[in-house]
Amino acid sequence: MTHVGLDIGTNYTKATKDGKNVTIFPSIVVYGEEKDWNLTGKSKSTYVGEEALAIMESLENVEALRPLHEGRIIHKSYIELAKYAVQILKVKPKVVATGLPVKSSKKEREELSASMKSELGVDVLVFPEPVGTLAYMGIDTGVCIDIGFGTTDMIVLSKMEYLKGDTMLVGIDWLFDNIEVTVRNKAGITLTPEELTKLITDENYEVGRIRSGRRITVKHEEIFEDYRKLLKSWVERIASRAKLMLEGLSTTIVDNMVLTGGGALLPGVKEEFENAFREIAEIKVPDNPIAANALGYYTLASAIVEEVKEEEKVEEIKEETKEKKKKK
Ligand SMILES: Nc1ncnc2c1ncn2[C@@H]1O[C@H](COP(=O)(O)OP(=O)(O)OP(=O)(O)O)[C@@H](O)[C@H]1O
Ligand SMILES: [Mg+2]
Repeated sequence: MTHVGLDIGTNYTKATKDGKNVTIFPSIVVYGEEKDWNLTGKSKSTYVGEEALAIMESLENVEALRPLHEGRIIHKSYIELAKYAVQILKVKPKVVATGLPVKSSKKEREELSASMKSELGVDVLVFPEPVGTLAYMGIDTGVCIDIGFGTTDMIVLSKMEYLKGDTMLVGIDWLFDNIEVTVRNKAGITLTPEELTKLITDENYEVGRIRSGRRITVKHEEIFEDYRKLLKSWVERIASRAKLMLEGLSTTIVDNMVLTGGGALLPGVKEEFENAFREIAEIKVPDNPIAANALGYYTLASAIVEEVKEEEKVEEIKEETKEKKKKK
């Protein structure tokens, strides 16, 4: 039975059909308008992922949809992301294992499952987001803090049982919104999160726009100072909320304390967390924090699918013995 691990994030959609390779694309949908000329012989009404991002970064006035915001599905176009992921993986899955923020409501989970079932014809398993990373790392007792673009999700597990969790509406977007204000004031241009990520992580990167007949550019060194300053208070906010969640827990649980999500990859973040949790525990980061949830959902789905198969086998055997007995 084929299954897929699918992590539709606010910034990136991550998907895997084998638990090893992960396909990543920006969670963006652009509904295209009729163009004056068609140069490729193909006409499309919906653009998803990289193609949508390219349109968005080249034309300022196009309406690009990011279907997730502050941990909520705010637009039905998120289903386009799910469909596109399955399409580029070239699979027809029976089961899709996915995640939602820890503090999502039961109604949100049910709606997600129902719409994926009707639009993709799949059975859906929904996990609280950070569980994916813990499953990927083979950890059944521990803590995981997932810093995504739109939310930071945290969870405490004991022997694969949910003990505690929280969702903060402070993700990388908080950092980027603040940096963006400076860029807008200094250069008068608006940048996408993808451009800001490159500006922060790549010393040689620069972004440009044409404005009032001139080239306006923003370079790494022009924003990095701001980033450094904001980083400290950002990590402090997240760390103090996490400490609140950890209050009263047994020390054996914090022996596995994991930091994941794209936030864990931003420069200086791991070090700031190590400082903040120096007195509590060592911080572990998975080898691929952006893909770890999707990979873990796949692992969890594999285990469940196996279990179902086993149960089916047992049922089959029971039926067969019944039949035999009858014949006798
Ligand atoms: N090398 C990198 N490539 C891409 N993004 C990176 C990299 N390093 C850090 N990032 C950050 O990771 C972020 C995406 O992280 P992630 O995929 O975990 O978020 P998300 O799952 O889309 O959001 P959420 O979980 O809040 O819905 C980007 O916004 C970017 O700032
Ligand atoms: Mg995420």
